[in-house]
Amino acid sequence: MIGKVKIKKIQFPSRGEALIYIAFEDSLKKDQNLRLLNELTAGKLQEKFKLYDFSGNENEILSLELYGFYKEIIIAGVRRENWQESLANAFRLAQTKKISEVTFFYNQNFGDNFFEVAKKVALAFYLTNYSFDCFKNKQERQKTRKIEVLNFVIPANFSGQNEKEVFHLLEKGVNYGRLLAEGVYLARDLVNQPASHLYPQTLMQEAFKIEKESGGQIKVNVLDENECRRLGMGAFLAVAQGSDRKPMFIVLKYQTLLSKRGSSKEKVNSICLIGKSITFDSGGLSLKPSEGMETMKIDMAGGAVVLGVFKILAHLGKIGLNIDKEVYGILPACENMPSGKALKPGDIVSCLNGKTIEVLNTDAEGRLTLADALVYAQKYLKTDVIIDLATLTGACMVALGKEIAGLFGNDDSLSKEFLQTAKKEGEKLWQLPLYEPYAKNLKSTVADIKNITGDRYGGAITAALFLSEFVKDAKWIHLDIAGPAFSYETRGTTSQGATGWGLLTIIDFLKNYGS
Ligand code: BES
Ligand code: ZN
Ligand code: ZN
Repeated sequence: MIGKVKIKKIQFPSRGEALIYIAFEDSLKKDQNLRLLNELTAGKLQEKFKLYDFSGNENEILSLELYGFYKEIIIAGVRRENWQESLANAFRLAQTKKISEVTFFYNQNFGDNFFEVAKKVALAFYLTNYSFDCFKNKQERQKTRKIEVLNFVIPANFSGQNEKEVFHLLEKGVNYGRLLAEGVYLARDLVNQPASHLYPQTLMQEAFKIEKESGGQIKVNVLDENECRRLGMGAFLAVAQGSDRKPMFIVLKYQTLLSKRGSSKEKVNSICLIGKSITFDSGGLSLKPSEGMETMKIDMAGGAVVLGVFKILAHLGKIGLNIDKEVYGILPACENMPSGKALKPGDIVSCLNGKTIEVLNTDAEGRLTLADALVYAQKYLKTDVIIDLATLTGACMVALGKEIAGLFGNDDSLSKEFLQTAKKEGEKLWQLPLYEPYAKNLKSTVADIKNITGDRYGGAITAALFLSEFVKDAKWIHLDIAGPAFSYETRGTTSQGATGWGLLTIIDFLKNYGS
């Protein structure tokens, strides 16, 4: 990961290669620093403000030179709640200008939650430095510009809280932001890797790497094909059977320090994260058309986010932040391929809980792998809460578009808390209903349930209803991330390609849930 954040205290505006200054829309006129910049540039700033009709609005960015101080001053307008994306856009502008060191000034407008501000700044900095170019030649790779140093500055006239304490909080926030970015980098890298290079075994190796890094806090257990058969995971194995790549049912466990202490009085919540992990979805014998298939390496984006979360859990203790919960992760990893051994439309498979499923479309495979994972979590891990992330349906993209994920849940207060967390973290999420009357369309004439309904309407809902048939004892949230798992454009903290959507919300949710 390229980039270093240095925390400093210097007189505004200081000097250096580039200054990034965030101008809050509602305090544009009162801002002393902007006034000073205007004086130093002999009124140029005001001129530019006028010329470009700059009102400090979101996505307004302008740049100017300040001779003797900076080669470049980038001023980004922001609305109060969304400054992180504007800051990220300012970093991106600096990158295109081939700037390698930027100075960011904290000002009172950011409020006094220093930890949170530093976390967001560091996160924006590292996420905009992300690129996936390991398959490009060296010259091409060098063309993607990165900012090497970010000076995070609190102004010399800063007064108020104990300075030492403020520095400590800023440092902690920067370390946390960096760690979060590391998790997002991992999730993005895994999704961006093509299926030629990433398959169930690769995900397993990644899980073992995380186990090793965690120094004992994370344990990984992988069930191979035989073990899955012995338990009765017929739905998961049916999806995998057409591929030459062996399926891996990967289970991770994060043990909190609290439960290690074995205190009987303190109740430790246990949460299970399940990530859809189809390393390539060709559709199977219900083969996808070429246009639908070309992005299907992303069909393990849910699993990638789960691994990203565990990567963060593995290192949280080292920066003095711990999560006092038991967290499980499940990646039912396999490929969905057509072949002489492949699952056929009309086949009936049997899930870990004994329910039989008539498979009428082999392209509705995610719900089959998730059915076994959901039952496994309840039967063997006995977790109170289950959250699954899945690139599950094109229908969810039709409903909510490419940026918004769909949430379904069987517990209103859990869903509400999760939605609030997503909003705070800037990940777009909208609740859709688990509308029970539609469940009758999943009735099969020959088995307990079938894996598709007769039509396309409400496809995200009926997929969620299918999953809900396998949830009995747990509070549960299902996130359909087919839209936001992948982005066609680079903007703000998002890069073209894999996004890592969901990771930030889940980490924050794990931190706060039940406490
Ligand atoms: N992996 C796809 C869903 C998907 C589509 C993810 C586009 C990301 C982008 C899933 O396995 C699938 O093929 N779903 C079918 C279900 C249908 C056959 C009921 C779909 O959405 O068309
Ligand atoms: Zn599919
Ligand atoms: Zn799929």
